[in-house]
Amino acid sequence: MLKLLWLAPITLIAFSSSFLHAEVPHNLRPLPIQMPFFLESIRKLQPYMISDEAFSNPANAKAIQEELNNLKNISRNLPHDKLLSQPVLRDSAAKLQNHLGELADNFDVSRTYSRYLLNSTLTACSTCHAQLPQQGHPLFRFDADSLKGSDFQRAEFLYAIRQFPEALKLYEKVLKNPDMQNQKMRALDRGLAIHLLHEHDPKKAIAWVKSFPVRHDDERALSENYLRYVNSLKEVKIPKIDAATSAQIAAFAEEMLNSPDNIARRLLASGVLHDFIQHQNTTKRKVNAEIYYWAGVCDRPLQSSFVFSLVQDYFETCVQAEPKSVQAKKCFEGLEEEVLNSYSGSDGTSLPADEADKLNKWRHQAGLKPKKYK
Ligand code: HEC
Repeated sequence: MLKLLWLAPITLIAFSSSFLHAEVPHNLRPLPIQMPFFLESIRKLQPYMISDEAFSNPANAKAIQEELNNLKNISRNLPHDKLLSQPVLRDSAAKLQNHLGELADNFDVSRTYSRYLLNSTLTACSTCHAQLPQQGHPLFRFDADSLKGSDFQRAEFLYAIRQFPEALKLYEKVLKNPDMQNQKMRALDRGLAIHLLHEHDPKKAIAWVKSFPVRHDDERALSENYLRYVNSLKEVKIPKIDAATSAQIAAFAEEMLNSPDNIARRLLASGVLHDFIQHQNTTKRKVNAEIYYWAGVCDRPLQSSFVFSLVQDYFETCVQAEPKSVQAKKCFEGLEEEVLNSYSGSDGTSLPADEADKLNKWRHQAGLKPKKYK
């Protein structure tokens, strides 16, 4: 792998399809240099993600450890990449870097734990990707047939690497398969995430839910719920990211979150907030604390893992953006709740001392008096 890293300064054009199991089309745009390497490396690891047997087989141990070391090396400079220098993206990069270090170092210690870490890598990839503005077609056209596993497993892999058209086709197969009951809701949600969070396109979201076949009462109930969610977007006016003010974006988020159970409205709000935040470099606009507040509130129920969740980072960025303000105090409350929730056990909350110190540091920045946490 180190050999490959020497290639780092060259442009994407050098990644031909002989290197990647994917085609690189002509519409090149800037990409963090690590991404093609990540893609190739996790593609090689994918057969082990889906099979405990293959992962634990001693005959594969050397190859797996080498590939895990590769991943760790690739992520070495990730938080310093220029394209990832935005607030929150930076935090996400650091989380993936820590995670990949832990993964490589734990393979020899515990197979069970390291396979769990390996599989959650995909969540780390998609959590960061969910913060990014949609920029047209995928850069790589990935060969879905080169992946192992069920339709659902392959769809999840393709979703994580932003190959949305290919992922959608496989989620559709899951929805049409009468035997896949327990994966249907997840598949529906993923389709909605692609159309709303990434593409901001309610029409496509409505068509997506309508394409879901209804064969019995369970499916009918699910379909009716989701239709209600997406139909509520018909009249919605989505603010233009380049022209809108912070106040307009915040008002939009507040309106969408008026019905907190509606996943479609939440995904759309989340996508708009992320795009607004990540566009601040190009539009030279300063994003205010309120926007970060809404991003934190909005993403809370959407997070699929505490470890990679960026909700705390949104609340922290909010406090930093306008220290000691009313907004900062609201964001601190959100942060405190998140941290306490992540540590609460059956016997109530027991917070490690360093977490309590961290909270008190944020209290200070938000203009609140210190508190003794137990
Ligand atoms: C800290 C944020 C971050 C993390 C974590 C991250 N990426 Fe990315 N990724 C990006 C950015 C930024 C882009 C560029 C998106 C664009 O311009 O469309 C990107 C794009 C990609 C693309 C190209 C998608 C396309 O349009 O075809 C692939 C493939 C990719 N990443 C793979 C991965 C994999 C695999 C992981 C996990 C091991 C990962 N990424 C983790 C930020 C991240």
